[in-house]
Amino acid sequence: MAINFCKESNIFKLDTYSSTYIFGIFEGNYLVHYYYGAPIPDTDVSALWLRPWFASFCPDSPSARIPNFSPDVTPLEYSTFGAGDFRLSAFAVENSEGNKVTDLRYISHKIYDGKKSLPGLPSLYTNEDSEAQTLEILTEDKVTGVKATLIYTVFEKKGAITRSVKVENPTEKPFYIDTIHSLCVDLPGYDYDMLGLYGRWVKERSLDRYPLHHGIQSIKSKRGSSSHNHNPFTALVSKNATEDYGDCYGFNLVYSSNFSIDVEVDGFASSRLVMGINPEGFKWLLNPGEEFYSPEAVMIYTNKGIGEMSRMFHRLYSDNLVRGKWKKAKRPLLINNWEGTGMSFDHDKLVSFAHHAKDMGIEMLVMDDGWFGKRDDDKSSLGDWFVADYKLKYGLSGLIKEVNALGLKFGIWFEPEMISPDSEIYRAHPDWCLHTEGRDKSIARTQYVIDYSRKEVRDHIYSMMYKILSENNIDYVKWDFNRNLTEVSCAELPKERQGEVFHRFVLGTYEIMDRLTRDFPHLLLENCSGGGGRFDPGMLYYSPQIWTSDNTDPIERLTIQFGTSLCYPASTMGAHVSASRRASYETKKNVALWGSFGYELDPDKLTEEEKAEIKEQVKEYHKYYDVIHYGELYRLITPFENEFKVAWEFVSEDKKEALVTVVNMRQPYDSLFFLKLKALDPEKIYEIEETGEEYSGAYLMNAGLNLTHKPNGDGASYLIHLLAK
Ligand code: GLA
Repeated sequence: MAINFCKESNIFKLDTYSSTYIFGIFEGNYLVHYYYGAPIPDTDVSALWLRPWFASFCPDSPSARIPNFSPDVTPLEYSTFGAGDFRLSAFAVENSEGNKVTDLRYISHKIYDGKKSLPGLPSLYTNEDSEAQTLEILTEDKVTGVKATLIYTVFEKKGAITRSVKVENPTEKPFYIDTIHSLCVDLPGYDYDMLGLYGRWVKERSLDRYPLHHGIQSIKSKRGSSSHNHNPFTALVSKNATEDYGDCYGFNLVYSSNFSIDVEVDGFASSRLVMGINPEGFKWLLNPGEEFYSPEAVMIYTNKGIGEMSRMFHRLYSDNLVRGKWKKAKRPLLINNWEGTGMSFDHDKLVSFAHHAKDMGIEMLVMDDGWFGKRDDDKSSLGDWFVADYKLKYGLSGLIKEVNALGLKFGIWFEPEMISPDSEIYRAHPDWCLHTEGRDKSIARTQYVIDYSRKEVRDHIYSMMYKILSENNIDYVKWDFNRNLTEVSCAELPKERQGEVFHRFVLGTYEIMDRLTRDFPHLLLENCSGGGGRFDPGMLYYSPQIWTSDNTDPIERLTIQFGTSLCYPASTMGAHVSASRRASYETKKNVALWGSFGYELDPDKLTEEEKAEIKEQVKEYHKYYDVIHYGELYRLITPFENEFKVAWEFVSEDKKEALVTVVNMRQPYDSLFFLKLKALDPEKIYEIEETGEEYSGAYLMNAGLNLTHKPNGDGASYLIHLLAK
């Protein structure tokens, strides 16, 4: 059993193969947190709550008058505002009397097999009930009657626990939810480094690592998306943690809008982490009889290092987050016209793309931005989702027919949450974009954001998409989102509900993505937000792959892909070979092979030699697909630690195959290079396919491959393919 409740000690024990998580019902029905870390068998853990305590400034609780207990210092399972705990609050409501004092205490609990989905929100799922167990703890604020259910699902074989919170209003009076985090974790001590993935457009998800310090450290977004700038991921790792060694607590929020991760180190050197919807700009009115669900948070613990934490996220997301036809099926090899043509294309140009693509063995043509309305640049037509006949002379169906006749699938680009001021739809409905009465509307990329919190508005947009998709043979959609949200108000909601608009917006987006994937279950949906501005688990619930970055330079891509791999699997990272300036096609291919591979260039501009090279690359794509998509990733040398070269390795589950990639970012001064591989079978003999050399797994992992004489100039790269004999 993954979840056990001990009646004698009132302890809940949540066990996975890599972790134990313990909390209990304490005096006064407080929920006290005891332990999260490597597996322990004990159920008597009562000593673990004790903390230093100084009576004058640490309030006593009238309902738990036992020595040394104060809500100010005791580790609490789900902290609340204003009733004696001065540290970070996970939850606060403003009640009908206008005060925010909130104090949740245990009422009851239930344990069941499997996992429920969260209404309207993306969340992890079980394929079979036996994969996970769920614990629901009902808590109540006695004074206001507010009820909150803390929901924990334990994926025992994945080393993961998911958490979310359901709030109900069973009273006669409305209240506001002011703060609702999805998880709260108290850890003794602060001897940890905090990891984060920061960045910006074309430089997403670089790794940051810094020691925790007293006070609050945060990672947040208030852009209306998870953002290029900060990812809803963090990990607390022991100071000596490396890829292969050390304690790692990984946290990720299944949410695509404003999020907040705070870690507070208090005066007694305890650390508290809370993660959830960013409270800034959020306020939700809960009327009598209504309920509200927080997004889901994922926690993973391992004492086997940062690399293992990543692989645990990868396994969990591949099996229990990504869904639908393309979850495990081989994705079609695509060519996208964006970097090749921008918006300057027509029927003949795309047909020419398709002919070349067919010739090179590519399986799908994706028509990017510029096929609709009067779209010749980024200044018009978003929202006018009807075909630009002046570009596509035989219409969309005429184009698709020709592409299909060549044996290629066809994909199309949409940006469904956006509207251009210069568009028919905007002229007809100028109030459909997000705006605040009396204020200028900020414009970005010459576009406004459609108010997706309004059902009739998103229904209208979806009906246009539906028409295109149901009348044509389309296999793939790229869903883009090219700016962030400003002047976030809703023309239809009353003033007391304006604090809900950010969240209602993303719920609207999720609703349309849900309809899209239900109505067209065969579709391969690829999310995108100016590259990787919405690369988060919320989006992965709807789309099995996300365009990782608009930066397709293979050297720049290295930090982006290494950072992204901290918690997202290779199969989710869209990665294309482009005509970008730096590096050879060889290196572009070697880097793009890491993800869901494709091309992003104008094949008319390729030389015959380059086309021949691409034909060979296509063969490699097929050859290595399984080990990359279904194998396990080992980061051997990362760009965050080495400014000259990087290396990574995929190993098949049965350890019979491994693919190693080495890329020189810059030519190193010293050229001695031994590369130790990982996760091979020490007993097996592996043959290096290119040279026929044979080595034991033990040799390869302990002595390492001597790669001193391999190419090491700027931008050089190579693959090493190993097969067990
Ligand atoms: C974004 C995407 C690109 C491309 C353009 C089209 O920037 O990330 O891949 O689709 O929009 O406008």
